[in-house]
Amino acid sequence: MTGTFYVIGVGPGDPELLTLKAARLLEKCPVWFVPKAHQNGDSTALTILAGSVATEGKEILELHFPMKKVRMHQAVDPEVEAAWQKAAEAILAKLNAGIDVAFPTLGDPAIYSTGFYVCDTLLKIAPRLPVSIVPGVSSIGASAAAVNQPLCLGDDRMVVVPATFENGQLRETIAQFDTVVLMKVHRVMPKVVGLLAELDLLDKAVLVERSSRSDQRVRRDLAAAAKDELHYFSTVIVRK
Ligand SMILES: C[S@@+](CC[C@H](N)C(=O)[O-])C[C@H]1O[C@@H](n2cnc3c(N)ncnc32)[C@H](O)[C@@H]1O
Repeated sequence: MTGTFYVIGVGPGDPELLTLKAARLLEKCPVWFVPKAHQNGDSTALTILAGSVATEGKEILELHFPMKKVRMHQAVDPEVEAAWQKAAEAILAKLNAGIDVAFPTLGDPAIYSTGFYVCDTLLKIAPRLPVSIVPGVSSIGASAAAVNQPLCLGDDRMVVVPATFENGQLRETIAQFDTVVLMKVHRVMPKVVGLLAELDLLDKAVLVERSSRSDQRVRRDLAAAAKDELHYFSTVIVRK
């Protein structure tokens, strides 16, 4: 029988935010394919889950996914596509041998996660494969919690924007919604700050770096933050 492919959200960093289900399935799967952004770096997802789940006895295989932009409905960079294909083939070999495979991923798999690209690539090769997506605590919720703030209440409307993909519509988007969550902001903060200043919203915005981790940092002076080198795990919440 074919094994099952589990894409498992491991939360934003605090090991206590790994769900009971994630822990149980990670314990059950003998093979983990762990994503990493840099060839010689560590896997963030593995580092997070290792705070709660024993790694002994697991076959842990690293997969490198280059940090390149993926635009929906446009051709994908060949290097990125090749990484998905390579990952899918390696995972498929295990599944075809009847082994359950876990693919842990940062936060929640439904939000900008490589897990879904890999899953889609796998299902193109073998459409009937058993696949299970296990939700996790997203960094969006963790960032709101870090500032004891709701994301939306009552009839508030919220939008999530990957700030690196600014296409000239960010001003309009920020103006339209009650709450704006800006992810992937670490390299574009000066632009974001300029826009928020123009819209007179700087005092409504907060930057959360490494939410839920022991080195979490909350910054309300975004203009000052924009002058610093920020961690990749940085999210801005604008709540009007
Ligand atoms: C590729 S997305 C992954 C999102 C993830 N799937 C989730 O549910 O949180 C990476 C972006 O998530 C945000 N992020 C991830 N972890 C974070 C954390 N601990 N604190 C603040 N932002 C974080 C940052 O905006 C980062 O650039």
